[in-house]
Amino acid sequence: MADYLIAPSILSADFARLGEEVDNVLAAGADVVHFDVMDNHYVPNLTIGPMVCKALRNHGVTAPVDVHLMVQPVDRLIGDFAEAGASYITFHPDASTHVDRSLQMIRDAGCKSGLVFNPAMGLDALKYVMDKVDMILLMSVNPGFGGQSFIPGTLDKLREARAMIDASGYDIRLEIDGGVSAKNIREIAAAGADTFVAGSAIFNQPDYAAVIAEMRAELAK
Ligand code: DX5
Ligand code: ZN
Repeated sequence: MADYLIAPSILSADFARLGEEVDNVLAAGADVVHFDVMDNHYVPNLTIGPMVCKALRNHGVTAPVDVHLMVQPVDRLIGDFAEAGASYITFHPDASTHVDRSLQMIRDAGCKSGLVFNPAMGLDALKYVMDKVDMILLMSVNPGFGGQSFIPGTLDKLREARAMIDASGYDIRLEIDGGVSAKNIREIAAAGADTFVAGSAIFNQPDYAAVIAEMRAELAK
């Protein structure tokens, strides 16, 4: 069985109690903390930066932190997030002028690298950099907000990305982000995803452990 990871997006957490929320969701069985960085430029929303990542590390969070950069330009933030304790740093190729350089900067900073693809964007940018990515993240909503509906066409793109990963022979995670819930996680996994971001589906429920257990039960079917 694939090694599935559940990555709650803290975008839907209560920011006034962020440390506690992250502790709770990890205690509830989450594997990875998905950390959405929005700049009100690349996407029409504004969220959190390296200081908050650092604060979570200082708070005692040891789980992998998956930093999803929805910012333009990209490069300036890479070093800051690496120093702040990021594990993964992913960015949108259309937000970086020199994609290969940005990927290299992430690895040179000691983090795992990844590219993120918006719903309408093809996977062409991957062709020459498969050896430089540790993660491919497919957006199944348009980035900027939590709580949107999963765009069904993403399933075909997942199958395409899975085939590319398998053909490459590299160890690359395939992450999906947007509108993921216990209701659709099984067909998303069947299409090839192994890492599942879920924001509202987890944080909008009172019992995080119950939701995560339900997702794992679906994945085990
Ligand atoms: C959207 C973010 C997502 C978002 C997902 O731009 O990248 O990580 O928090 O939220 P849900 O799971 O509610 O669609
Ligand atoms: Zn995200």
